[in-house]
Amino acid sequence: MKLRKMAVAMSAVMALGAIAVPAAAEEGTQKVGISMPTQSLERWNRDGSWLDEKMQEAGYETILTYSDNDSSQQVNDIQNMLADGVDILIISAIDGETLNTVMDEAAEAGVPVVAYDRLIMNDAVSCYVSFDNYTVGQLQGEYIVEALDLENAGDATYNLEITAGDPADNNAGYFYNGAMDVLNPYIEAGTLVVVSGQTDFDTVATDQWDTQTAMERAQNILASYYADGTQLDVWLCSNDSTALGVAQGITSDYAGDNTVIITGQDGDEANLANIKDGIQTMTVYKNVNDECTFTLEIAQAILAGEELTEALCESSEIEAAYDTESYETSEGNACISYLLVPTVITADNLDYLVEAGLYAENDEGYLVSVDSVE
Ligand code: BGC
Repeated sequence: MKLRKMAVAMSAVMALGAIAVPAAAEEGTQKVGISMPTQSLERWNRDGSWLDEKMQEAGYETILTYSDNDSSQQVNDIQNMLADGVDILIISAIDGETLNTVMDEAAEAGVPVVAYDRLIMNDAVSCYVSFDNYTVGQLQGEYIVEALDLENAGDATYNLEITAGDPADNNAGYFYNGAMDVLNPYIEAGTLVVVSGQTDFDTVATDQWDTQTAMERAQNILASYYADGTQLDVWLCSNDSTALGVAQGITSDYAGDNTVIITGQDGDEANLANIKDGIQTMTVYKNVNDECTFTLEIAQAILAGEELTEALCESSEIEAAYDTESYETSEGNACISYLLVPTVITADNLDYLVEAGLYAENDEGYLVSVDSVE
């Protein structure tokens, strides 16, 4: 059944490849295909609906899909969009490697691709719009250094555990490296001690950024290394879905005092509540509204046949760096990248999110994401 669907979609795509102007363009309305990874991780719901909203407001027709964290479904979804005559694709990949063939199909059909937030390993990608992923990790690491005042630690030692993201997501390694480059000198000096000994990326990674997986690993570590009363000081988590699992593990399986520093990324509602309640310590917020608006500006430029240069950063109201070196779609092939600037959120500046129009306070004083953005 799946195979048949794929074959139908593929032949439609191949037929499309022969048509010079996509059907939608002939009718005057261009069509944007938006492929998001999943609705089960909170942020992608915002990315998907805000991208959709902004593209439609700008006069484009849209197709929006979520692929349930299943890369073969994402391939199908993209093939269907190609068969539907999209003029441009905006894709946040579940797995940066497995979209290779469908990217070749997009290239054959003359459909440009914007890799949204996560890079796709195929040279057909026109450009990458994201935040500076390495900086996200650095901010987490630097937060830990400052919170524990590691520079002035003297003989004091602090116990650290580490949880990273999904190895299939190209971003995960950048977050991990950014943080570990800051923390490693303190680990090497013995100021930070990883009691479990689990430090390398493959060991600390979390498939699909899954909360339950992160929780179970945290529970195992706590039962194996901390049940004797060993103090846990800090848990580096690459993002909020994993931080949520780690916080649950600490609540259920750690008997020590409740002042463990936990890092995160995104500003998921449950995590912002945990920050307010002192359960999670910080998150690195990436303004998804800005990411969507910048992506719209890039899509407009591409569809207008403009070159992707630094000028796009200068004309935009959003702060982004033009980077043609950091990200490669294949060895030696750097991808034009526009990298936005992340912000650290703690209990002290939760208001930033409300003032930016991204969240509103509910009756209990917790932040909830707004449905629609300017
Ligand atoms: C995104 C993060 C997100 C993670 C899991 C990454 O690619 O950059 O913002 O937390 O995926 O959804």
